[in-house]
Amino acid sequence: MPHMPPDNDLDEPTLRLSRRGFMQTAAAAAAVVNLPVTATAAPSAPPLPAPAAPAQKVTLDINGKQHQLSLEPRVTLLDALREHIGMTGTKKGCDRGQCGACTVLVNGRRINSCLTLAIMHEGDKITTIEGIASNGQLAPIQAAFIEHDAFQCGYCTPGQICSAVACIDEMRAGTASAVSPDMRIRPVDMNSTEIRERMSGNLCRCGAYPNIVTAIKVVATRSS
Ligand code: FES
Ligand code: FES
Repeated sequence: MPHMPPDNDLDEPTLRLSRRGFMQTAAAAAAVVNLPVTATAAPSAPPLPAPAAPAQKVTLDINGKQHQLSLEPRVTLLDALREHIGMTGTKKGCDRGQCGACTVLVNGRRINSCLTLAIMHEGDKITTIEGIASNGQLAPIQAAFIEHDAFQCGYCTPGQICSAVACIDEMRAGTASAVSPDMRIRPVDMNSTEIRERMSGNLCRCGAYPNIVTAIKVVATRSS
């Protein structure tokens, strides 16, 4: 049988040194592994802004008046209205097509002006909230919003009113919506469900929805 040294024959100092060395090596390795990348990488410069594209000349017909502008192609219709022409009635809520605050009419159809480029609308007839009244008289839908208390802070109201104008026109034209029970039925029943569905792209943070629906229904049914 081969000779096995007893446990107390082991070289204790050598063994302790070995354990200490192992622990130090392991700790150093762990520190390297856990070191944040940012601490070792050279600091990176912030990205440079995209260079401006050359401005283009564009003429916009807004509320029957011609506006000659020089705009970068990336300027939205909303920013052209507010920042370049100074027509601040059209509001910027989300700037990404979610709230409807920026709704305007283009050739009679409602669109989100934050989702379209101004240079795309040369030759179009653009109507903003400033153009809804005529000859110093409020449009029926504007008067109805006041009469039925259809706003609180009023921030969403320009978009609501522009959208309501098109909404009423669409119902009168017999355009079906997702909640129309039968698409063949004319005229569309201008009930609250139809109005809510058709106005669902216009959000109101104040929750004035019941009175907005009432105002629209009153105008839609009164003169149809
Ligand atoms: S600002 Fe255009 S949809 Fe909200
Ligand atoms: S009235 Fe305040 S957001 Fe609609």
